[in-house]
Amino acid sequence: MSELSVPHLLGIKYLNEKDIQLIFETADHFKEVINRSIKKVPSLRDITIANIFFENSTRTKLSFELAEKRLSADVVNFSAAQSSVKKGETLIDTVNNILSMKVDMVVMRHPNPGAGIFLSKHVSASIINAGDGAHEHPTQALLDSYSIRERLGDVGGKKVVIVGDILHSRVALSNIFALKLQGAEVKVCGPRTLLPKHIESLGVGVETDLKAALNWCDVANMLRIQNERMDISYFPSTREYSQQFGINKKLLDSLDKEIVIMHPGPINRGVEITSEVADSSQSIILNQVENGVAIRMAVIYLLASKIK
Ligand code: NCD
Repeated sequence: MSELSVPHLLGIKYLNEKDIQLIFETADHFKEVINRSIKKVPSLRDITIANIFFENSTRTKLSFELAEKRLSADVVNFSAAQSSVKKGETLIDTVNNILSMKVDMVVMRHPNPGAGIFLSKHVSASIINAGDGAHEHPTQALLDSYSIRERLGDVGGKKVVIVGDILHSRVALSNIFALKLQGAEVKVCGPRTLLPKHIESLGVGVETDLKAALNWCDVANMLRIQNERMDISYFPSTREYSQQFGINKKLLDSLDKEIVIMHPGPINRGVEITSEVADSSQSIILNQVENGVAIRMAVIYLLASKIK
């Protein structure tokens, strides 16, 4: 039986193309499971997973928890606001305390880039990175590619533009790695101030004219402005940003072709995307959320099979 090449999911950077295909094939199976009337399988009855979130999250946390429960794992949740971290405990001490309660896997979201990588070197559990600062968010990129594959048949050869705050977005970086690995063409689009200086070195094109980018692509992934990671202004006003880099129905209908619209959520309606576009038939935003559970079940299942 095939298995993943890695013991942790720390970033897409550490995966190969075969890993991604294996995750997708496993997710196909779990997607079928979660659409049955009995949505649960006993696969991970002997596995305990801790979800530790040092940063806010709604859908990612819910999605991981649902995935774990549908695999029949035992689940414990930990959020930094109610923890001893506030009393000065270090990350390793916090996690080692959790692990001494016989936890096999840790799903962690943390504001510092590299937090998951650091942890994986110091604790024995399998680590899944659920977002580390502005660095990577691997399960989001996997569910994004999986949703493109579902809508368009394949990711290879497709043209994908990622629009918005590329500089502060972990979704952007993980998507760039995942899409390139599968042979898609990628462009980023946004105000110059929100595009990292040497982004072309990752093999992506740069476009600052949204209409030109949309006319080029098959898929547009619209990102939220990460205000929580900004300490200065990167553009004059939200109104101006939305005029230049927001997508609305008029713009969508003026394009040469019908493109697919994605968004990782949470959406700021009327800023990067209008309600009409978000709720249109060209949008696959809710499919992304649904696929998130199947993808996370696949990742957890494949990593757990390496523990046993
Ligand atoms: C993303 C994140 O947290 O990085 N959201 C998510 O995981 N659903 C994107 C964002 O917050 O804009």
